[in-house]
Amino acid sequence: MATLTLLFLFAFCIASSDTVLGQGCQQCVVESQKIQGNSYFTYNKKCVEYKNCKCNCNGSWNCPAENAVDHCRQNVSIGCSFCNVRGQRFSGNSNFKFRDGCNEFNCFCKCDGGWNCPSEKTINICNTNINTGCKYCDVNGQKHEGNSYFTHRKECVEYKNCMCNCDGSWNCPGENAIDYCRQNVNTGCYYCTIDKMKIEGNSRFHLVRDCYQYSGCICQCDGGWTCAHTTGRYVCGTKRGKVRYSSTKVSSVQKITSSQGSYQKSSEE
Ligand SMILES: *[C@@H]1O[C@H](CO)[C@@H](O)[C@H](O)[C@H]1NC(C)=O
Ligand SMILES: *[C@@H]1O[C@H](CO)[C@@H](O)[C@H](O)[C@H]1NC(C)=O
Repeated sequence: MATLTLLFLFAFCIASSDTVLGQGCQQCVVESQKIQGNSYFTYNKKCVEYKNCKCNCNGSWNCPAENAVDHCRQNVSIGCSFCNVRGQRFSGNSNFKFRDGCNEFNCFCKCDGGWNCPSEKTINICNTNINTGCKYCDVNGQKHEGNSYFTHRKECVEYKNCMCNCDGSWNCPGENAIDYCRQNVNTGCYYCTIDKMKIEGNSRFHLVRDCYQYSGCICQCDGGWTCAHTTGRYVCGTKRGKVRYSSTKVSSVQKITSSQGSYQKSSEE
């Protein structure tokens, strides 16, 4: 009976001491996981992976910090830290971009987790087309693509073949402009304006002035007009005379460019 009790006690001691039979070492208990004594193991705690942890024979254990990898802060496959920029994570040793308002920042994430966005690579996406790299031309509130032609209407005048340059400057040649208030769009001729009469360019007309009637007056295409004196006929009685009336051409449409007065937009810095 006494022998049996002793045997039980012995068995109990073995079970409670976490001793591994045969090796004579205790197990290490790491977060409810049992590790064999006198061995190395890997241990994960949240983001951190500890390698080369040592379970000692007496049941104590330790994980050296120098072999630990923080997966939340490092990309293990390339051995570089992430860059955390405004809640976004970017891989080390790589380019990345982000936007803030009108600015697109083109940045580099270094291997150590530091990053920088050089100002010369920052693009204003509000005034630049990032696909072409050209600035938009702002012509009286209208936006035109850089490096392209456009048509612009300002009051009576329609400018064709305006050029928007890549740097945001622009110009509209006067030769291609049509003044809808002063020109007949179909013929391209200017009207002759005489005593509030609007006469088609390239046509003949009658004019009565100071009792003389002039027939066969000519309105030229350029808006100038003339009534030869020989055609004047006195219409107020019997008196006769010779008078000549004429006008020079109207001034044609001036060219407008981005560098003229308030109607302009010079290239930006
Ligand atoms: C357990 O063993 C380790 C390694 O041999 C030793 O450094 C440590 O002091 C020991 N701890 C105890 C409580 O004996
Ligand atoms: C780690 O880097 C590799 C290689 O550049 C990449 O393919 C992978 O997406 C990166 N991992 C994370 C989580 O960013």
